[in-house]
Amino acid sequence: MGRGRIGLYQQNLAAHICGMAVLDIALMGHTILSQLAGPVEDPTDPAIRALVADMMDTMAAAGGVGLAAPQVNRSLRLVVFEVPASRTADGVGLPLTALANPVIEPLDEATDDAYEACLSIPGLTGVVPRWRHIGYRGLGLDGKPVEREAKGFHARVVQHECDHLLGALYPMRMRNLSTLAFTEQLRRLAQEQEESR
Ligand code: NI
Repeated sequence: MGRGRIGLYQQNLAAHICGMAVLDIALMGHTILSQLAGPVEDPTDPAIRALVADMMDTMAAAGGVGLAAPQVNRSLRLVVFEVPASRTADGVGLPLTALANPVIEPLDEATDDAYEACLSIPGLTGVVPRWRHIGYRGLGLDGKPVEREAKGFHARVVQHECDHLLGALYPMRMRNLSTLAFTEQLRRLAQEQEESR
């Protein structure tokens, strides 16, 4: 029985009853988040499949759109992510994807700035530049190669998650740390502006 399931018993009985396994998320400051993750030797290993299922449960319970294995205390090149249709310009999302040993290459020099957040840095958000248009590849849980092109939010999520495998958190990619903010404070400011209109 993994650490996550023990944590689950203590913290998340409702999720347990539903058959979910919500793992503990490492927070910024944990050394595993600044390490280079190691390769997944066999993506079809049932232990990897079980880990991915737990990562998906953990991500859903935390309300995230992506999660990397080091965030649940496994130093492996393994990520899960999804692209909600509401976050794309064309309204076409991407279903939940698991990818082992992902590799990214920029297909264009252009970058975009946008706010990001991370489940390992709760409550904060900041403006991060990311490649606008990338190609990425890796292995699916069936062991078959996955190769895709991504733009916009999709490209951003993949870059954010793959950064976790390099030991990089989004503040390390920020150009202007003065945009680092508490989400709650930005919400209050937006509310005040709304009310003063
Ligand atoms: Ni993150």
